[in-house]
Amino acid sequence: MTLIIGMVSQKGGVGKSTLARLVAREYAQAGWQVKIADLDISQGTSTDWKQRREQSKIDPEIAVEPFRTVMQAMKVISIYDLLIFDGPPHSMSGTLEIAKTSHLMVLPTGLALDDLKPSVLLAHELTANQISADKIVFALCRVGDKENEILDAREYIKRAGYRTLTGSIPEKTGFRRASDEGKALSEVSFPTLRNRAEELAQAIIDEASHILSLEKKVK
Ligand SMILES: Nc1ncnc2c1ncn2[C@@H]1O[C@H](COP(=O)(O)OP(=O)(O)O)[C@@H](O)[C@H]1O
Ligand SMILES: [Mg+2]
Repeated sequence: MTLIIGMVSQKGGVGKSTLARLVAREYAQAGWQVKIADLDISQGTSTDWKQRREQSKIDPEIAVEPFRTVMQAMKVISIYDLLIFDGPPHSMSGTLEIAKTSHLMVLPTGLALDDLKPSVLLAHELTANQISADKIVFALCRVGDKENEILDAREYIKRAGYRTLTGSIPEKTGFRRASDEGKALSEVSFPTLRNRAEELAQAIIDEASHILSLEKKVK
């Protein structure tokens, strides 16, 4: 069976591609066969990142391929242990397709209401289309250093009826640089940043493991 995780938001620039690469790297490092399906073909962010990663000869190798549709990506999944959808912005239909096929939907969001509100509306839209809230989690990305602001965002999401992952990803030059070099967030050289990235990645891995174990029980 292939685990499928979707990174989605209606907005661009919130951290979908960044999280897709982080999670892909953590599983690949653990020996899983991983593929990122880059559905943001107009930008091809993750596809470009893979090229930088190859040029820098960084291990583990991570497969990234652009796909026009979820259906196209689903045709190739059987050889992978994990497929990560790096979602397109501004596409409700594309996002719903991802949600229908994914075991877990990760919604990265910033802390401002301008970010939180559309993120929650997207989650509402998914649940209105029969996607279970159990498989939706929010990831706080590009956060500042004020703990109160982070707590307020967690509270906002909770009040809307959704869960937020443990940990958060701060907005840092070190992360930008790492990405420019073809690295994932957990491959930065600064231990404090690496720990932050690993904590959030682990929270996603724990969610995915939990969902998979429930699925096995049902079967
Ligand atoms: N935590 C962070 N710190 C610094 N830069 C970040 C961080 N997260 C994302 N970025 C940068 O912000 C931009 C948008 O991130 P990206 O993951 O591509 O968003 P999306 O896929 O949602 O459009 C990229 O240039 C990325 O390198
Ligand atoms: Mg992207």
